[in-house]
Amino acid sequence: MRGAAMSLTAAARGFVFFLLSVPVIQGQDDWGVTYTSTQICALRGSTVEMPCTYRYPSTMSHQTTEVVKRFWFTKGSNKAPVDLKTDSDYTGRVEYHCDEKSCILSISDLRERDSVEYKFKFITNHDGFTGSPGVTLSVTVPDLQVQVTRSWTQGELRCHSSCNVPDNPSYVWFNNGQKMDGETSSSLRVSVEDNNSYSCAVTGYEDYRSPPVYGPKLPSVSVSPSAEIVEGSSVTLTCSSDANPAAKYTWYKENVHFKPLSEGPQLVFSSIQSSDSGQYYCTAENELGTKMSQYKFIDVKYAPKVVLLSLTPTGDIRENSRVTLTCSSDANPAATYTWYKNGKPLNKNAQIVFSSIQSSDSGQYYCKAENKLGRRTSRSISIDVKYAPKLPSVSVSPSAEIVEGSSVTLTCSSDANPAANYTWYKENEDSPKASGQIFTITDFRAEHSGNYYCEAQNRRGRQNSTLHLIVVADTSTITLITNSIRLTLVGVGGLIPLLLCCRWMRKKKALSSTTEPDEPKETVEFDSCPEYEDISETAAQTEDPEEQEDLV
Ligand SMILES: *[C@@H]1O[C@H](CO)[C@@H](O)[C@H](O)[C@H]1NC(C)=O
Ligand SMILES: *[C@@H]1O[C@H](CO)[C@@H](O)[C@H](O)[C@H]1NC(C)=O
Repeated sequence: MRGAAMSLTAAARGFVFFLLSVPVIQGQDDWGVTYTSTQICALRGSTVEMPCTYRYPSTMSHQTTEVVKRFWFTKGSNKAPVDLKTDSDYTGRVEYHCDEKSCILSISDLRERDSVEYKFKFITNHDGFTGSPGVTLSVTVPDLQVQVTRSWTQGELRCHSSCNVPDNPSYVWFNNGQKMDGETSSSLRVSVEDNNSYSCAVTGYEDYRSPPVYGPKLPSVSVSPSAEIVEGSSVTLTCSSDANPAAKYTWYKENVHFKPLSEGPQLVFSSIQSSDSGQYYCTAENELGTKMSQYKFIDVKYAPKVVLLSLTPTGDIRENSRVTLTCSSDANPAATYTWYKNGKPLNKNAQIVFSSIQSSDSGQYYCKAENKLGRRTSRSISIDVKYAPKLPSVSVSPSAEIVEGSSVTLTCSSDANPAANYTWYKENEDSPKASGQIFTITDFRAEHSGNYYCEAQNRRGRQNSTLHLIVVADTSTITLITNSIRLTLVGVGGLIPLLLCCRWMRKKKALSSTTEPDEPKETVEFDSCPEYEDISETAAQTEDPEEQEDLV
């Protein structure tokens, strides 16, 4: 008698794996064959046992039924089967252990070609019966997988076969290829992050090990496209790490460590921006550990963005001061710059430095920033060099002669920025005679004779013109305009030396006079003591083209 317990023991010994343990009953009425399992996995070289029970009517036609033959077969039809014991493919490997109700087929030293359907047939004195369909056997080498689950810092490894294992056979575990002593259970506890690899095998089948399981290896990052990354293009970063079980990936950007950018092996930028430049890394994680990749620098190139101009110092630009114009732009690669003045290229530096700026440097400036991806122009900036009035020039009208009682107009002009205002003075009078660019003396009288000059002033400074002598004679008409040796002389011959002398006279007079602005008396005395050298020296100092133009 061989019972279920015995067959299980046998199964354990031979590593028989039952895929289906629901008994299947064939036949009907009182005839039938029941296979314990109809799908059986068994390891190559092992011994498999296929139990079945069978039944039949105890009597038929008042005659006791007797079993005359019991056997298993794979070949031949149900009507003409070939008893496995006589099949040369199974010579010496087949045993039946049968009694009145059951019959166990045992095949030892299994080969792959034994993977066929096995049926049991019994023949009685009345009739025969075949249990069909039979038992499908598949003979394999161990096909093991280590299943990993994790709880906190521990990983639980379980050696799993594609064939179901009802009984725990003996296992062998390997750590980095080395057999681990004393580990014979189907499961194994390990520490997470121990960087070891584990595999399992069934005792006796050490050559048929599971693939090893291990934590992720250092992940590598690749960038596609591998060429230069231009803003607006599509870029994909791919993380890959050798790991078993397969790793799960997470993407991060440097300095944003706790906020994952995305999960999955790929980080995709459909339209990458300059702000996406930076260091990226990924982590690969499975149940046995986590590894972080090295940083991958993403350098996004872009055409110049806003172009900025700066002007230092701020405020008024004073003549002769140091002024710096700087052009800057956000661009990658760095931009090159071109400065333009009044629309014409000026130079190719980012900076223009005027160490001593002149009024001729005034104008509209802008710059252009450029790299291989594009260009951009700045706004325009106006440079307006401010300066104090230059030496004012005075023109007198009429220039020819001044007849007593006529009017005289003096016009002062000075190059200045901002434009100057003007004040008129008469020599030796403290109070100004008038203000404004044009000074008119109507009804010119002898007492108006004298030296006039104007002062040009703006907020940068002021400057007095040279003296202009305006004289009217009582009887003859004499117009004198001297800020130099130039004179116009009407009516009196031989006057030039005397006029030249008048400067000296006035000097003398100034010492004794306390003249009020409108006080009449200012006579011109002519003396015979000319100071030619003095006068010509004055002329040389003050002569200037504008004045000549006015006076000629
Ligand atoms: C001329 O300009 C200066 C500086 O801007 C100012 O202080 C002054 O009052 C002005 N004089 C006249 C007469 O407008
Ligand atoms: C110009 O003359 C006026 C009047 O004499 C005087 O107050 C002023 O300081 C002079 N200005 C300059 C720049 O010399």
